[in-house]
Amino acid sequence: MRRERIQKEIDELKRKQNAIILAHNYQIPEVQDIADFVGDSLDLAMKATKADVENIIFCGVDFMAESAKILNPDKNVIIPDIEAKCPMAGMVDAESLTWLKEDHPTAVTVSYINTPAEVKAISDICCTSSNGAKVIKNLPADRDVIFVPDQNLGLYIKRFIHDRKLILWPGICPTHHKIETKEILEIKNRHPKAEILVHPECKPEVIDIADHVFSTNGMVKHVLQSNKKEFIIGTEKGLCHRLQKEKPDKKFYPLKTAVCPNMKKINLEKVLKSLKSLEPKITLSQETIEKAKKPLQKMMQIGRGD
Ligand code: 13P
Ligand code: SF4
Repeated sequence: MRRERIQKEIDELKRKQNAIILAHNYQIPEVQDIADFVGDSLDLAMKATKADVENIIFCGVDFMAESAKILNPDKNVIIPDIEAKCPMAGMVDAESLTWLKEDHPTAVTVSYINTPAEVKAISDICCTSSNGAKVIKNLPADRDVIFVPDQNLGLYIKRFIHDRKLILWPGICPTHHKIETKEILEIKNRHPKAEILVHPECKPEVIDIADHVFSTNGMVKHVLQSNKKEFIIGTEKGLCHRLQKEKPDKKFYPLKTAVCPNMKKINLEKVLKSLKSLEPKITLSQETIEKAKKPLQKMMQIGRGD
């Protein structure tokens, strides 16, 4: 009852405040259900540029909301919990990256979208889990590549890039790095027909036992097209809600350990509060916005790779 009342209030306020709610695939079910659009990092960045509204309520983590702000500097981008931060994005900072760039003056810097805006501002191009290899294949062939911050994604991309050096940053996603082959194989034992789908932020040994490696939206697309009926989902559990909604007749087996605590910080009450107050807003300097926009836009021109 309380939930229905909050949902109704959110719906009314959204119209009144000329707002749209964007939510990442890892958000809690109630938040996904009230969102106007649910997607992965790339889709959400693209959607943000097309939203014809004054206010974007962004239900995700810091770097995603920052990307929405960079691409829409004239709109208010509001994140219902300012403490929802991606720890992997926090593993790289502009000062340390500048030192690495000085050590490799001819290298191109590719930053995963999971980075702070100031890191994007000194990068040549961004990528997401959907298009990392595609982005790097598009760069001049004779240049080495500095790739920040996810080492596991970098190692995965390396499987497709043989003609150049990739210099990897020592960052990881704590949620995906924790995923073990043991847990996946135990589920596979119980459900031998299930296909194993994993996210490229997983460790190499996990990638090795997967049937497919996809971004979160890549998994959704695959499940919609596949004639298989059962899937083991090797990424943050929240995606299973989206998958089950899209395909109620299929079975999805989440991993118990795959939870991103930061993605779970936003709830309906916080969404309602932020719609009322239009706070907390993402604020970035004009200079950072101008500089970070270029690598994001270059990535968006390349589009999806899965
Ligand atoms: P996606 O872009 O695949 O949704 O990934 C975002 C993320 O944070 C993965 O941990
Ligand atoms: Fe960051 Fe990992 Fe959480 Fe994604 S799942 S937001 S990479 S900590």
